[in-house]
Amino acid sequence: MNIIITGGAGFIGSHVVRLFVNKYPQYKIINLDKLTYAGNLANLKDIENKPNYKFVRMDICDFNGVLKLMQDEHVDGIIHLAAESHVDRSIKDPFTFAQTNVMGTLSMLQAAKTAWEGCPNKYEGKRFYHISTDEVYGALQMTHPEGIMPPFTTKASSGKHHLAYGDKFFTEDLKYQPHSPYSAAKASSDHFVRAFHDTYGLPTIVTNCSNNYGPYQFPEKLIPLFINNIRHRKPLPVYGKGENVRDWLYVEDHARAIDLIFHKGVIAETYNIGGFNEWKNIDIIKVLINTVDRLLGRPEGADMDLITYVTDRAGHDMRYAIDSSKLQRELGWEPSLQFEEGIEKTVRWYLDNQEWMDNVTSGDYLKYYEDMYSNR
Ligand code: NAD
Ligand code: DAU
Repeated sequence: MNIIITGGAGFIGSHVVRLFVNKYPQYKIINLDKLTYAGNLANLKDIENKPNYKFVRMDICDFNGVLKLMQDEHVDGIIHLAAESHVDRSIKDPFTFAQTNVMGTLSMLQAAKTAWEGCPNKYEGKRFYHISTDEVYGALQMTHPEGIMPPFTTKASSGKHHLAYGDKFFTEDLKYQPHSPYSAAKASSDHFVRAFHDTYGLPTIVTNCSNNYGPYQFPEKLIPLFINNIRHRKPLPVYGKGENVRDWLYVEDHARAIDLIFHKGVIAETYNIGGFNEWKNIDIIKVLINTVDRLLGRPEGADMDLITYVTDRAGHDMRYAIDSSKLQRELGWEPSLQFEEGIEKTVRWYLDNQEWMDNVTSGDYLKYYEDMYSNR
């Protein structure tokens, strides 16, 4: 197959590109990325010279460019991750989010439709896989039918016992109720993807995943930002009371799910991806402080006083909790890592890769690519 992965220089995209390039030497993997502030080719240093990998700097909104690339490269699969992804930025600049996430997705869909309609066997063997988020479902409450205070142990539909902060979970059939400009734009893009299947028969799949963590995440997001701040003994800005709950999945487990669904998922279906792993922000922050302190040889918990409660995020969703039992049941996917193991690996990675972090926080990686391109 010849596959375009959009947003392959970003956090999740780089893990998906690496997995596909290494696992499928018979495929051609084209990483299509605009290299916004969030795109960093240093995330892919280890595979950049592989013969089955190609990088193309392009904006997903460039319909003609994408169409030509699809035709020139005989592309038969698209895994679409490129997006503006940070909620706080969407609150300040919603236009960019509508442009990239909605218009960009529409441009990718229309290019795929046009390119594939021109093929002799049209949509046969083709696949447009759109990566979305659990935030489109809105926010869940911290409730229990018998009034038990969360967290409590539940079996839910996972079949296994796990801790939960409420008795409701995001399932694939829930109605969309996005609250932030980011999630509203992602919801709109999901609707366009489904509309292209229903109207034109485009072979689409949508997945909605919970919060990812792991190496190469841009340090504006909670986990890498806080690891770096703890290391440098800078304040940790906790929004509101730190009581909000997020459901965390190790990024390589998300990439494995994407691989499985790309190959085995049923066209027109939606799959939720998550590891039944709910955490209050403040509890994760304490784990991060203890882990960084321990790995840096400081007394564990010495940096608790860095916790600084700040004004809450506008429209801050209270709780996300994904029910991924459909994916487990129908395709046999399960997360491979326990959270304790994943977070230890993640903290170690950021502490061992200070150069990567310094390049990103100084913005040097952006200058490097501008120079590289202007010299061509
Ligand atoms: P990211 O911000 O780290 O990376 C986004 C990538 O997209 C960057 O490489 C950027 O350069 C590229 N990009 C942005 N605008 C572009 C454009 N107009 N044209 C081409 N490339 C462009 O994002 P991420 O956290 O890796 O998220 C990837 C996808 O997964 C997004 O669609 C996001 O909504 C979704 N998602 C993320 C999470 C998470 O926890 N991070 C969870 C569920 C779903
Ligand atoms: O649920 C999936 C989503 O997870 C993805 O679709 C998004 O692309 C991704 O950014 C992430 O969104 P969140 O808003 O949940 O992630 P973030 O890391 O920004 O914040 C996690 C929680 O931590 C959230 O409740 C806000 C809080 N927070 C965040 C930051 C950056 C703080 O308290 N302080 C902070 O400085």
